[in-house]
Amino acid sequence: MNIMNTAHVRHGSNIGQNLTRREGALKVTGAARYAADHHPAGMLYAVLAVSAVARGRVTALDVAAAKAHPGVVDVMTPQNAPKLAHHPDEKTNPFAFRLDILQDAQVRYANQPIAVVIGESLEAATEGAVLLAPAYQAEDVVVRFEDGEHFVPAAVGVGAPAEEGHGDVEAGLRNAAQRVDVTYDTPAHYHNALEPHAIVAEWQGERLIIDTPSQGMAIAQGRLAGLFGIAPEDIYIRSPYLGGGFGGKGLIAGPQVLGIMAAKLVGKPVKLVMRREQLYGPIGHRGVTRQHMRLGADTEGGLTAIDHHILTATSRFDDFFEPSAGVTHTLYATPALLTRYEGMRFDTGTPLFVRAPGEASGSVALEGAIDELAEACGMDPLAFRLKNYAETEPLTGKPFTSKALRACYAQGAARFGWAKRPLAARMMTDAQGLLTGWGVGTATFPAHMFQASARAEIRSDGSGVVEIGAHDMGQGAWTALAQIAADGLSLDMDKLTFRIGTSDLPDAGIAGGSAHTATAGSAIHNATGAAIAALADIAMRDETSPLFGAGNAGVVSRDGHLYRRDDESRGESYATILSRAGLDSVEGRGEGAADQAVTENYAGHAHGAVFAEVKVDPELGQVRVTRLVGAFAAGRVINPRMVESQYLGGMIWGVSFALHEEAIMDRRTGRPVNGNLADYHVPVNADIPSVEAILIDEQDSLINALGIKGVGEIGITGTAGAIVNAIWHATGIRVRSMPVTLDKLLF
Ligand code: MOS
Repeated sequence: MNIMNTAHVRHGSNIGQNLTRREGALKVTGAARYAADHHPAGMLYAVLAVSAVARGRVTALDVAAAKAHPGVVDVMTPQNAPKLAHHPDEKTNPFAFRLDILQDAQVRYANQPIAVVIGESLEAATEGAVLLAPAYQAEDVVVRFEDGEHFVPAAVGVGAPAEEGHGDVEAGLRNAAQRVDVTYDTPAHYHNALEPHAIVAEWQGERLIIDTPSQGMAIAQGRLAGLFGIAPEDIYIRSPYLGGGFGGKGLIAGPQVLGIMAAKLVGKPVKLVMRREQLYGPIGHRGVTRQHMRLGADTEGGLTAIDHHILTATSRFDDFFEPSAGVTHTLYATPALLTRYEGMRFDTGTPLFVRAPGEASGSVALEGAIDELAEACGMDPLAFRLKNYAETEPLTGKPFTSKALRACYAQGAARFGWAKRPLAARMMTDAQGLLTGWGVGTATFPAHMFQASARAEIRSDGSGVVEIGAHDMGQGAWTALAQIAADGLSLDMDKLTFRIGTSDLPDAGIAGGSAHTATAGSAIHNATGAAIAALADIAMRDETSPLFGAGNAGVVSRDGHLYRRDDESRGESYATILSRAGLDSVEGRGEGAADQAVTENYAGHAHGAVFAEVKVDPELGQVRVTRLVGAFAAGRVINPRMVESQYLGGMIWGVSFALHEEAIMDRRTGRPVNGNLADYHVPVNADIPSVEAILIDEQDSLINALGIKGVGEIGITGTAGAIVNAIWHATGIRVRSMPVTLDKLLF
């Protein structure tokens, strides 16, 4: 809904500016308070005790020993945990995933919380947790595709069909001149945000005050209200800064709820911070996939069929299936397309959202297989992608709201120097004797929008206020949304008070799905428009205003003033209008949501092209990414610096996907073998020599009023594929199992 009176035009110059993070100084000086920085008076420390087995029961806990330890205040177990208003396994809505919050002695995965020790100090509580010395009755576990049964899931992701497509894939493959039939494996990834999940919880009677990092405060309020049987309005969440979210903080996790329960049990404020190794279980992870790709092409290199079969694992007790087929629905034109899923149940925590959930894993398989088919056709992989360029969305046939992918390919390739690439593999060696290869991958991510509300106010001193319960997990919402707000009110940034990050502000929806700037930004755009319209109304009805009678032509807002649109020499300041009317302020409210008519008739996606150079030691098999160039088109750029930062971060995660990251589960115990930041590899500075992101111009007049798509997740797509394709180009070896560790390149 656009409630802005279209007779009003707003001018501003903040959108598009390269502002630095407005909260940056607070962060680097330590003045920004993250959740765990809070210490309300009388606060106690809670420490999780977690299961060492992946399936079975806790048969004994030495609560007496823990309680006898000096400084231990209480021990929360299934015996004394506060009663909840409903069972945490109840699926109250599609976003209610099952939580392990001491409902019973069952163990469903390693690192599941089995008790909480509350102490006067962190040390006392930590020691108390050790003294619990749990005993278990353990059962056999399944954590590998080889060890269990497959089934067809009812839905994947959040409600997507498990089988989609069109045309006759088998005929397309049969009639193809060239085929590939290959399987790509992607491992489980676990969240390693700088800030672990943390909470400081305080009950004030029936009212709950919490400091905790959240990408979705209103959803968290709803979940907590259900569990504790209180009204959502009685839950106040502060989440102004997150040390990374990446989907792991999209929904409130069990350990956060346990912090709240612990505070209830002891009747005091409680802080609970997860230990790094405890993140490998109860907070969601990227599900493991095995993707069978069958592709065919005709003699001209045109696709005849794509069959993308995804085997993926969820937990034994809940359903989330990594939705890896999305990229295949989006990227390449083909007369026959089929994507289908099978699921398995592993004795792990339930997989959930991790940056580009589905798109990241699907992209590696699709981009790898497309590259293999280009090779089979004897074509340059970029030329092959252009040959199969989708003019409409392959799955639905819908036109795109905008698609500047050709420009991404062209500008990325030019910047990278792609034209000099030899067609065959193993043709380039550098001065040090390292095999050198170049690869390309296409990036794509859907331009989602969720629901958001915002409130705007213009004050009689000429300043503005904009409020929205938006979330800045590091992506730059404090800055980019403020730029939209300032332009919405036609004010300089220093005239704007901008509030986000607390749950008493209008619901901004979830900061996920790369949709936050588009959704919250649209709400802000409409709220500020409503405030300007209300102000214009006051002036235009006032005979003493130069705007009197501007009526049909309307007004223009610029620099804290309104002017007649039919005569821009006649105008007056916001302050003058409000003062004369005897008003302190005027308010506007607005919503942000997708335009249903557009969603039904068009496909909205951001696109990009990533080019990678790798060098491979021919004796050791060691791979280094030496250059990455990504070119991305994602509609209107609100702040180029923030957008570039998102692309660079995404591409670096793509390097991690291709070369580093992999959670290894012990097949005998179901425990993570490398569940800590020392053994779970992520790239460090030395792994990332040169990364460049090119921001491609793209105007999109359909996707939303501001023309914003979304940039948070696209960078991780395309990149890992480009790297594995470059590794082939360097070595002649197709590695189809991520990450590409050196043992897979022994030649
Ligand atoms: Mo993202 S995985 O939607 O935070």
